[in-house]
Amino acid sequence: MSESLVKIENIRAYYKLKNREVKAVDNVSFEIMENEIIGVVGESGCGKSTLSNVLLNNIIKPLTIVGGRVLFKSNGEYVEISSLTREEVRERFWGKEMSLIPQSAMNALMPTIKLSKYVEHLAQSHGIPKNELLKKARKRFEDVDLDPQWLNRYPFELSGGMRQRAVIAIATLLNPQLLIADEPTSALDVVNQKVFLKILLEMKRQGIVKSIIFVTHDIATIRQIADRMLVMYAGKIMEISPVDKIVEKPLNPYTEGLLNSVLTPEPEIKKRGITTIPGTPPNLIEPPSGCRFHPRCPKAMSVCKEKEPKLVEIEPQRKVACFLYSEERA
Ligand SMILES: Nc1ncnc2c1ncn2[C@@H]1O[C@H](COP(=O)(O)OP(=O)(O)O)[C@@H](O)[C@H]1O
Ligand SMILES: [Mg+2]
Repeated sequence: MSESLVKIENIRAYYKLKNREVKAVDNVSFEIMENEIIGVVGESGCGKSTLSNVLLNNIIKPLTIVGGRVLFKSNGEYVEISSLTREEVRERFWGKEMSLIPQSAMNALMPTIKLSKYVEHLAQSHGIPKNELLKKARKRFEDVDLDPQWLNRYPFELSGGMRQRAVIAIATLLNPQLLIADEPTSALDVVNQKVFLKILLEMKRQGIVKSIIFVTHDIATIRQIADRMLVMYAGKIMEISPVDKIVEKPLNPYTEGLLNSVLTPEPEIKKRGITTIPGTPPNLIEPPSGCRFHPRCPKAMSVCKEKEPKLVEIEPQRKVACFLYSEERA
């Protein structure tokens, strides 16, 4: 049995604005097991990036942890990283035990900073001799099919696919247990997407990274690489299950809608017909009452407007938040 690497307990992370707050992650609980890949899906604005940042305590105002906690297993003990400051977690864990490839990372590299500088910076923050880490980086660049010479170049000299490979090489240089990749393939062409996914899986196989959170719009990608799928809607987890089970039989109508609206569906999904979910996700300042999906849900019942469904385990390994599967509906 593998153990959990991260425990996320009732986390609420809100953007506190002047006289309102955006409830971007609202009472979310789940565990990241050792050696698993979790694919996180949901439409834009559902809180996926906020959740990614919460996982490594990258909390920058106006984002605020309003409740709950995140426990990260380090040297066999769970550290409550959500009670530490961002700087404390950064110094102790970032790059070393947990790494984030932020959304649009490959386009956010500073054009005037050579790639080697990022490696030197990483060495400096963890007290590692620069030359030692640069040597490791050259090796790692080769592993991801980049000429080590590129370390001496500026990001703008590399193509998008190369930049993203440089990003993952540097993000995983110190073999972090947890890698969070926020839409790392969304801006890549199909060929580079494939290359990137292959690299990611190879890094997991070699034990360079243990567990991966992979945020994407692309369900086909999740099917290829992930063990479990976490479906987010309007700051909530709607469903979390092994990928195969979800694809075979999505339980939450939102999950079903997402699977059905895949643009290039695979056969099993396609035969259910392509439809899209009508409407758009709600604003999270005043989200809908009850189940946040109820205004768009084709199967909504009166209880859905009144009460909030809890995320409950309805069969081994399958959790869903929906009154269709809950006894509370009676
Ligand atoms: N800096 C911010 N200030 C205020 N609201 C924000 C900020 N960043 C994100 N949000 C809001 O938080 C919600 C979740 O956003 P995000 O986590 O980026 O979703 P996703 O990654 O799923 O697209 C959205 O409603 C978004 O508008
Ligand atoms: Mg995002």
